[in-house]
Amino acid sequence: MRIAMIGSGYVGLVSGACFADFGHIVTCVDKDVDKIEQLRRGEIPIFEPGLGELVESNVAEGRLAFTSDLAPAVHEADAVFIAVGTPSRRGDGHADLSYVYEAALDIAAALDGFTVIITKSTVPVGTGDEVERIMREARPDADFTVVSNPEFLREGAAILDFKRPDRIVVGTEHARAREVMQEIYRPLYINQPPIIFTNRRTSELTKYAANAFLATKITFINEIADLCERVGANVQEVARGIGLDNRIGTKFLHAGPGYGGSCFPKDTVALIKTAQEAGAPIRIVETVAAVNEARKRAIAGKVIAACDGSVAGKKVALLGLAFKPNTDDMREAPSLVIVAALEAAGAGVQAFDPESIEQARPLMPKVTFCANPYACATGADALVIATEWDAFRALDLDRIKKVMARPVIIDLRNIYRPQDVRRRGFTYVSVGRD
Ligand code: UDX
Repeated sequence: MRIAMIGSGYVGLVSGACFADFGHIVTCVDKDVDKIEQLRRGEIPIFEPGLGELVESNVAEGRLAFTSDLAPAVHEADAVFIAVGTPSRRGDGHADLSYVYEAALDIAAALDGFTVIITKSTVPVGTGDEVERIMREARPDADFTVVSNPEFLREGAAILDFKRPDRIVVGTEHARAREVMQEIYRPLYINQPPIIFTNRRTSELTKYAANAFLATKITFINEIADLCERVGANVQEVARGIGLDNRIGTKFLHAGPGYGGSCFPKDTVALIKTAQEAGAPIRIVETVAAVNEARKRAIAGKVIAACDGSVAGKKVALLGLAFKPNTDDMREAPSLVIVAALEAAGAGVQAFDPESIEQARPLMPKVTFCANPYACATGADALVIATEWDAFRALDLDRIKKVMARPVIIDLRNIYRPQDVRRRGFTYVSVGRD
């Protein structure tokens, strides 16, 4: 199967490399000439475990190539995936579909022979219809159909998620497209992931519903954590106590500083808009989005409270900047809000992250960036663990205590056992537990 992947960002690159690894011939296309040059030199523009090796081996095997020239790639392809960005539109929170529609027009111009066009980008319900309309108008003669096939990739675990998916959702009612999609995902049959064939609109909505549900689950446990703090209960034990009920499940019940990243914040807001406009507002998701935003600010208050109510003139050390571990992605990271609030309250912030310092630097110009966790803790009046990188799970706490000005740890990811930290003479504050 010959595949063209339009957009070589996070989703396009991971999907393209994985499809190539399945044995398909893949060309990843991007308008960003510098990015394509970088990829051709074997440099990966994002941090994603295992991606570099996957790209390298598939390029070497001749199954994966990069180009900024869309037309020849589409011309040869049996299947063309649209994996361009759909950022939040400034002002109204709607998904900005201009890149999707631009890609649709470029693809239409280059079509040759029966081609399946697949939207992998997260797009609001009805976008597939519009893509099809735009393309038919541009190329009434062309033989193609538009399919929805959302991705469910977690950053940091994207290759694993791609190769061992819980399910694959495909929105098409076109028999030949169904065969093509089956063929594309055939190499996965050994693990037998369910492929759900449905109509295009249902597929598009499934993606938003999945992310909104996960965001709701996180927000639910975050509010239960707040209640635990008030009533002397332990949120981790509550999470386990409810999670072992199969109907609930133990995953996505880790309380913390609020969800961030490139998907949940954007997709919840886009779903809210779609639902309002359709006259079926989803009030639970409206609340989730509002609660999560407020939480990031409230968490800064928690840090300040742990510093005896004021951080004015104090030094706060922040471990972890990315919105979650194993990524360098700073989009909607809680650390952005926490740093801004601490600085506004008069603190000097010094920070360390294993991967995201270069991304963070322009976003938090007043922060001092450090080379490792111990340098970061040096001279600090409080140490905040904001992202649960493995590297932070087994710090030498005695060494940390020696270098800090005051032994105060605020563990926003509950990665330590309170008694282990307190035994070493720290004041220790975590989320939803004593
Ligand atoms: C998410 C979805 O999981 C994925 O299926 C979708 O395609 C894209 O969005 P991602 O944003 O990469 O993936 O990360 P995820 O691991 O889902 O975490 C999102 C946010 O939720 C992070 O900020 C994380 O710290 C937070 N989170 C997650 C919690 O606070 N608690 C949890 O229990 C789980």
